[in-house]
Amino acid sequence: MIPDVDNDSIVYLNGQYVRLGDAKISVLDRGFIFGDGIYDVVPAYQGKPFRMEGHLARLERSLTAIGIDTGMTRDNWRALVTDMIARSGLGDCMVYIQVTRGVARRDHAFPENAQPTIFCMVSPFTRPDATKREKGLSAVGIPDIRWLRCEVKSVSLLGNVLAKQQAVEAGVDDVLQFRDGFLSEGSSCNIWVVRNGVLLAPPRNNLILEGIRYGLIEELAAAANVPFEVRAISEAEVDTADELMLTSATKEILPITRYNARPVGKGVAGPVYAALRAGYDKVIAAL
Ligand code: PDD
Repeated sequence: MIPDVDNDSIVYLNGQYVRLGDAKISVLDRGFIFGDGIYDVVPAYQGKPFRMEGHLARLERSLTAIGIDTGMTRDNWRALVTDMIARSGLGDCMVYIQVTRGVARRDHAFPENAQPTIFCMVSPFTRPDATKREKGLSAVGIPDIRWLRCEVKSVSLLGNVLAKQQAVEAGVDDVLQFRDGFLSEGSSCNIWVVRNGVLLAPPRNNLILEGIRYGLIEELAAAANVPFEVRAISEAEVDTADELMLTSATKEILPITRYNARPVGKGVAGPVYAALRAGYDKVIAAL
């Protein structure tokens, strides 16, 4: 029995549909041995996947980046996601897909004949509540100690795990990570900064995972006439920001109203957040 999950839910593992509580992989799976794999998380609302093509394109990019060939086509991935949502019977949910290089004798080099392990599960999702949307979240700044291929959605998440634990131990909701004095991202989300009415975004490069919400926020900013600028953002600019916010599949878009134990701006959710949040809700309602 795995605590805190629905052990009876059905997961996909290498072509089979099995109970989550019964799903097993080998101890020699390279995901377990080396963290040699990638994943993606596709949100769905009322059973309808949200921005699925973007998520599947990123999944394919991650696979290509680390040289895993599953033989799965885009149609196959799409069918897997929609089928898993339908089987789950869930409305609002998260579809988690993970692919590893497969099972092989322990050797760092890529194995010759391993079959990639493909796993997919669907979990219920509760949208962020009114308190989080209105009062906002708290965060602290920390150095970014992760590797230099953060654009790959790798299951090797130790840096992100340690970052999130620092937030827990500091009694805040998340961290803002800084590499060489410039903002990268949160422990598992992208970060946005508002200064003088301009929405600033860290560059899309190898130092961050470009969220599927990144492009969406750019679209929503344009629709709301909020100037949008992609550039390196210094620690000092974050310290004195008018607004801070984060985005991810699971957090949607949420304001950060306390940073390093001080209020951000007026210490409440700001006008740029309100405009983007309204746009986000509208896109979901129209699904
Ligand atoms: N995390 N940056 C990192 C490091 C992330 O792990 C995530 C998502 C994002 C935002 O990406 P998106 O907008 O596509 O969700 C940015 C997922 C939700 C997770 O690990 O569960």
